[in-house]
Amino acid sequence: MNVKVIYRSRKGHTAMVAEEIAKHCGTEALDITEPHTLGETDLLFIGTGIYNSRPDELLMDYLDQLPVNKIRGAAIFCTAGKGIDATGLLVSILEHKGITVYRQRFCCRGRHLWRSKGHPNEEDLQAAGEFADKVLRAFQG
Ligand SMILES: Cc1cc2nc3c(=O)[nH]c(=O)nc-3n(C[C@H](O)[C@H](O)[C@H](O)COP(=O)(O)O)c2cc1C
Repeated sequence: MNVKVIYRSRKGHTAMVAEEIAKHCGTEALDITEPHTLGETDLLFIGTGIYNSRPDELLMDYLDQLPVNKIRGAAIFCTAGKGIDATGLLVSILEHKGITVYRQRFCCRGRHLWRSKGHPNEEDLQAAGEFADKVLRAFQG
């Protein structure tokens, strides 16, 4: 199974989670703002920071422009100051393209000013790894 991990991270919090997920998938985490090739993908993990209760605009534009029929399935993760998922717009974009999105999404806290200091921490990263394992099992089975 061809598994890839892409992310958009302004301050590095989502990047940390992406690295952990990529480690569990035996691949590298790809920053969408750096040169990369995606190609045919069976399962795409997609990560973003939450800004003003929305996923990052750059990531949404990127997903809008993804060619149809290149990606089979996707799983979404995010970091947010409040630790509350706000990635519903990503699900809409992906499903509109006929991409199956894993029903559960992962979100952990990411530090913002005084809020959520020290996050993502070890526990958050462990939970992210467990999420990756669960998604992998679901798509392999
Ligand atoms: C301008 C700005 C707006 C933000 N808006 C929210 C928000 O609406 N809800 C929330 O939970 N966190 C919010 N945050 C905190 C980020 O979601 C958090 O720091 C996240 O970990 C950033 O991820 P990144 O470092 O991967 O970009 C905001 C942060 C900034 C800088």
